Amino acid sequence: MRCNHVRLNCGITMPLIGFGTYSFPNDKKTTEIAVHNALEVGYRHFDTAKIYGSEPALGKALNEAIYMGEVGREEIFLTSKLWGSDHHDPVSALKRTLENLGMEYLDMYLVHWPVKLKPWVNYPVPSEYDFEKLDLETTWAGMEKCVEMGLCRCIGVSNFSSNKIEWLSDFASTPPAVNQVEMHPMWRQRKLRKTCGDHKIHVSAYSPLGGPGNAWGSTAVVNHPIIQSIALKHKATPAQVALKWGLSKGSSVIVKSFNQERMEDNMGSFDINLDYEDILEIEKLDKMKIMRGEFLVNETTSPYKTIEELWDGEI
Ligand SMILES: NC(=O)c1ccc[n+]([C@@H]2O[C@H](COP(=O)([O-])OP(=O)(O)OC[C@H]3O[C@@H](n4cnc5c(N)ncnc54)[C@H](OP(=O)(O)O)[C@@H]3O)[C@@H](O)[C@H]2O)c1
Repeated sequence: MRCNHVRLNCGITMPLIGFGTYSFPNDKKTTEIAVHNALEVGYRHFDTAKIYGSEPALGKALNEAIYMGEVGREEIFLTSKLWGSDHHDPVSALKRTLENLGMEYLDMYLVHWPVKLKPWVNYPVPSEYDFEKLDLETTWAGMEKCVEMGLCRCIGVSNFSSNKIEWLSDFASTPPAVNQVEMHPMWRQRKLRKTCGDHKIHVSAYSPLGGPGNAWGSTAVVNHPIIQSIALKHKATPAQVALKWGLSKGSSVIVKSFNQERMEDNMGSFDINLDYEDILEIEKLDKMKIMRGEFLVNETTSPYKTIEELWDGEI
């Protein structure tokens, strides 16, 4: 299998190409078929979250493949995420996630956002009065408990700025292994990659193609003339160029395609080579952040009054 791996600070290895399972609409059968196809193409790293609603379909497909002897559980790297309303009790939340997945453990459990919500907020877009003050020390203690109890092998965060990584690193007994953030040729995360690198935290890139086809996403990356001309030069696709750029920065890439041809295309990004000049050209592209997080900002109960506060200026 051509899936390369990275060794994380918690001692385990993770395949560098992950298979995203967020889709809208979230159709169970479509996701199951996509996961079976992804396994066949060679994906072994799967990314889900309670709030995506994809845990049951992903778990069902993986368990079927394990039962049929197509793959062993230990060959799969499985990530899910703690939603804001579960910061009160990460252990119970992870137990529910494992039930949804029909699994005994996760490989990686991430704090989805640096946002704590009222316990009943089981929906993706919180309303104005749904927020609580983020008590990261208590949340993280709950995440550490998940590891101690053997419910997950490693823990990490998602959508954390450099400042929040520093804040967490000040008190964490178990440091985060991963920070999963938006990263693609038009949102390169230079500062955050340096901060995470200093703390030996692996940066994992979500929306590595810029999310073409997603309601909030954009075709700006895959349609960019520079990306297209680099692709032409290497007889590759624009998606392969975008993914290889992320891999060349030492990041893993979490890419979603439920189309088997594009799944293969994306996996093929390992096999293309970018020249030094290509990387320099990409460094010059205009910046464009897609997931800005406006839905987590308000002037009443959110601790973040502006998106600048949410990202600590990294926006
Ligand atoms: N931690 C977080 O807060 C967070 C946020 C967002 C996403 N994520 C994770 O990251 C995963 C990926 O992010 P994403 O879905 O936002 O963005 P993405 O992977 O950059 O883009 C996905 C979109 O690109 C299309 N696509 C895939 N391969 C393609 C190719 N080779 N050529 C052209 N189009 C292609 C897909 O359509 P088809 O399916 O039709 O191919 C889909 O519409 C998610 O599924 C989720 O697991 C995490």
